[in-house]
Amino acid sequence: MPVFYKPVPTSEHDDEESQNLTKSRSARIKTTLFYFVATIAVMYVAYLATRSIIRSVPKHGMHGRPGCHHRNLTTLPSHHILPSGDKIPSVALGVWQAGKGEVGAAVQTALKTGYRHIDGAWIYGNEEEVGKAISASGVPRDQLWLTSKLWNNFHAPEDIEPALDETLTRLNTEYLDLYLIHWPIAFKKGSNNVLDKELTANPYPTWQKLEELVDKGKIRNIGISNFNIARIKNLTANPLKHKPAVNQVELNYFNPQPELLKWSKENGLLLEAYSPLGSTKQVKEALSVPEVKEIAKKLDITPAQALISWHVQRGTIVLPKSVTPSRVQENFQVVTLPDDLFDKLEKAATSHPPQRVVNPSKNWGLDFDVFDENWPL
Ligand SMILES: NC(=O)c1ccc[n+]([C@@H]2O[C@H](COP(=O)([O-])OP(=O)(O)OC[C@H]3O[C@@H](n4cnc5c(N)ncnc54)[C@H](OP(=O)(O)O)[C@@H]3O)[C@@H](O)[C@H]2O)c1
Ligand SMILES: *[C@@H]1O[C@H](CO)[C@@H](O)[C@H](O)[C@H]1NC(C)=O
Ligand SMILES: *[C@@H]1O[C@H](CO)[C@@H](O)[C@H](O)[C@H]1NC(C)=O
Repeated sequence: MPVFYKPVPTSEHDDEESQNLTKSRSARIKTTLFYFVATIAVMYVAYLATRSIIRSVPKHGMHGRPGCHHRNLTTLPSHHILPSGDKIPSVALGVWQAGKGEVGAAVQTALKTGYRHIDGAWIYGNEEEVGKAISASGVPRDQLWLTSKLWNNFHAPEDIEPALDETLTRLNTEYLDLYLIHWPIAFKKGSNNVLDKELTANPYPTWQKLEELVDKGKIRNIGISNFNIARIKNLTANPLKHKPAVNQVELNYFNPQPELLKWSKENGLLLEAYSPLGSTKQVKEALSVPEVKEIAKKLDITPAQALISWHVQRGTIVLPKSVTPSRVQENFQVVTLPDDLFDKLEKAATSHPPQRVVNPSKNWGLDFDVFDENWPL
């Protein structure tokens, strides 16, 4: 007799007893079955309810990816707020090395996809085509975030406004949302590699002119690019009217700069990740890192999406460049990585010797490394 049946008392009336036994047995089987089915039904309803609650929680500020399983629903920021109060979108289209005849189409694709942030520079030589694409898109100017950068041979205060005006004209806009000192290196006017030692060692005069242009309304925010901690400290030791809003630096799997990231967070300086996929030179290698491939496989996303998401989750702005329409679209889809996978990638990235992809020191004939923390202080 199965143990879950109560022992049936013995009776003198064997027939009746066996009848009763059969009756009570079938009743109990029915009851047990009923409870069994009811329990499964209740559990199923509970499962459906939990699933719908989890799915209704926004996973990140930007783009939903329904149906993927996140162990931690950290919400990724769709933008960051700068000291000015302006909101800078987390993902931008980078346009360095986006050539003539292809950059305009890339910008148009990006704006159609939903990008509202374009990262350009005077030196990229494509601002006119970028400007035309923006105008043709019909996206209102106040919904766009346009960044440009002051080239090295315009650091002298009197050269800054003309250079900015050229950029504004080419982009066909009245103002920039963000203007960066492209490199902490000043060349003499008209040259492209004669170092202006004074302005390189002390960028404060350049910065003061940029502050003036903010007050004039031609630039909403000013920032720096390729500055290391020593150079930032040197600049911010001055009595600044407008603090640097961002520092745009190389951040990727090969050069993740955890110390700079930590220091910047502690000091309220937002980082922008350039060459986030390893740039043209290393993108292939970056996309085949085992930890990146594992994330892509587990979350059913692409390796580029895994890397771009990692950058946003680290708390930086990310500036992937592509002129390939499908990649421009792909790169805009950011998802939250579960903590364990995020940590695994972070650990892999930060536990090999750092290797920069971008370092023009030698090309410029400098007798020091632009990233040297000891120069010239
Ligand atoms: N401040 C500075 O000094 C500085 C320096 C470097 C870069 N930046 C900024 O950062 C931006 C990005 O950096 P970056 O251009 O050096 O490199 P990146 O964005 O890391 O990589 C660009 C390369 O990756 C390819 N790529 C893009 N998306 C891909 C995808 N989903 N799958 C496979 N391949 C993909 C691109 O090819 P296709 O284009 O052919 O698709 C291109 O060859 C620049 O455009 C610029 O705005 C600033
Ligand atoms: C989720 O992740 C965030 C950021 O990594 C962390 O601060 C938070 O404690 C995590 N929450 C849980 C419940 O694990
Ligand atoms: C920054 O460094 C330069 C070069 O060493 C120096 O002349 C300047 O005084 C420094 N600025 C500040 C505010 O310390």
